[in-house]
Order: sequence, then structure tokens, then C-alpha cells
Amino acid sequence: DLYNFRQLGSDTKVHGVIGNPIGHSKSPHLYNNAFKSVGFNGIYLPLLVDSVANYINTYSSPDFAGYSYTIPHKEAGLKCCDEIDPIAKAIGAISCMIRKPDGKLIGYNVDYLGAIAAIEEGLRSSNGANPSSGSPLAGKLFVVMGAGGAGKALAYGGYEKGARVVVANRTYEKAKELASKVGGQAITLADLKDFHPEEGMILANTTSVGMKPRIDDTPLPKEALKHYSLVFDAIYTPKLTRLLREAQETGATIVYGTEMFINQAFVQFERFTGLPAPKQLIRDVLARNT
Ligand code: ATR
Repeated sequence: DLYNFRQLGSDTKVHGVIGNPIGHSKSPHLYNNAFKSVGFNGIYLPLLVDSVANYINTYSSPDFAGYSYTIPHKEAGLKCCDEIDPIAKAIGAISCMIRKPDGKLIGYNVDYLGAIAAIEEGLRSSNGANPSSGSPLAGKLFVVMGAGGAGKALAYGGYEKGARVVVANRTYEKAKELASKVGGQAITLADLKDFHPEEGMILANTTSVGMKPRIDDTPLPKEALKHYSLVFDAIYTPKLTRLLREAQETGATIVYGTEMFINQAFVQFERFTGLPAPKQLIRDVLARNT
């Protein structure tokens, strides 16, 4: 009775995280604790799945109220939805699926909401801005490094908040394709070090440069970081990447990759339960398990 499920019954809302591997996932621990803390009659299971299509067609019973998706199934999950949120469609990947009362499964991508919320919170805390006065990203030059799944998510998220998006990628063609979809500008990663049309820009890294074990690498030299007021790194191993360390030394506000996961957990919790997320509890559970 790890989670002490006292109220399991026919009205219990069953959830799960679909991935492979899945044993390392913190999500079951996180959501089961969070559901319990607010008295929500739900459970959340780790689901080791090889083929998403096979799983959804064969094993997904109507009793399953919602799913999270993790590596490597975010793209495959998109193909198994009855309906897809427009942003998830544009990104080409889902991070969660919710069953509507009519039984249909709707796919969403809330990864970008987590990252964008973390960046907005970083901007607000550094400016002391009022949380109700619109997005602090609006009108800002927002440079996204990388054009893969996470790069797309950040670029769409910034665009949705009214930022002027710049996509910087090693492969220019991919930057161009993504930038054209968000009304933005494309540049190669190599040229980004000489790109500073204005001061106080916002930077997000979604490339794998600087990820463990290559912790001495950085996608942008320190010298270029002085033009940015806030730097976010989607990498969370290590938590303090070389990029973030050098940005901090340069005086920028830094936002850790772990904040992206924490904030998207708040959003998923709210989608699953319809209740406000117990934010401090979620932070505490994650802090205890990292
Ligand atoms: P994710 O889903 O995490 O975004 P991805 O789709 O594999 O991962 O995308 C990886 C991103 O990191 C890409 O933008 C990739 O650049 P390319 O489009 O040129 O491949 C970038 N990336 C990976 N390794 C890199 C490296 N050594 N230097 C620069 N960019 C790199």
C-alpha cells in the first residue's frame, strides 16, 4: 500500500504515463501523492508500452481518464488521438491525453506551457511585475536555440505570448522552417554569437549541448550572454549547465530546466483533476526524489 489507495472503486479516475523505459519516471509518485493531498479519487500508473497504437487500440479501456506521454512516444501518441489541440498538432507531439465525457481522447502538449510559465515567472520575479498585467514575454526578443521537439514547443509558446521569436539552429534549414511558422527570424547557431540587435533579450536553449556527460560544452559563448536579461536551459542534468552558470556570472536571471518539468506537472494536474495544483506539495515531492 505504497500510496494507501483507500477509495478505489468504479468511480476512481485512472491515469497513467506511457513510455519506454518507464521505471525511472517520477510521475506516478508525484501524481499519486498530489491526488491524495487534495482528496481527488484518482490513481496514476506507470505503463511500459512498446507500441502506442497497439496499446490504445487493444488495452486502453474507457476507465482510463488520462495519460501522460514520455520518451519515445510523444510523436506516436499524436497519431492515436481522436482530437488534437492545434498547438500540439503544430509541434508534432503530445505530452498528455484526456478522455472527454463522450469517450474521445484529446491530445495536448503542455510541455511548452511549463517552460513558458517558468520563463514568465523568472521575468516577473526579476522585474517585480504584477502577475495580472499580461505576459512579460510580450514584445520581447525571444531567441530559441534548437529546432527539434522542444525548440518547436518553446517557439510556439513564445509566439503565442506575443514575443518576437528568433530560431537559432545548427542546421539552418530547420531554423527557417520553424521560424516561418511563428512569424520569426532564422539564424544559424554559429552566427548567434554576433547577433544582438538589442539588449535585454531572452534566451532559451533546447539543444542537447551541455548535457551530461558533456558538461563543459555550451551552445553560446559567455561573451554573447551579456545581451540577455534572462536565460533558460531545457537541460536538467546537470541542473546548473555551463550556459546557466555563465549567464548568471554575466548578471542574467537564470531559469533551470527542472522548472519546466515542475510547471508542466501543475498544468497536467489541473487538466486531470479540474482542481488547482498543490504547488508546494509537488515541489516537495520532486525535491525529495531527485
Ligand atoms: P528535442 O526533442 O529534445 O528537441 P531533437 O528533436 O533531437 O531533441 O533536437 C535536438 C536539437 O539539438 C536540434 O535542434 C539539433 O540541431 P540540428 O537540427 O542541427 O540537428 C540540436 N543539436 C544536437 N546536437 C547539437 C550539437 N552538437 N550542436 C548544435 N546543436 C545540436
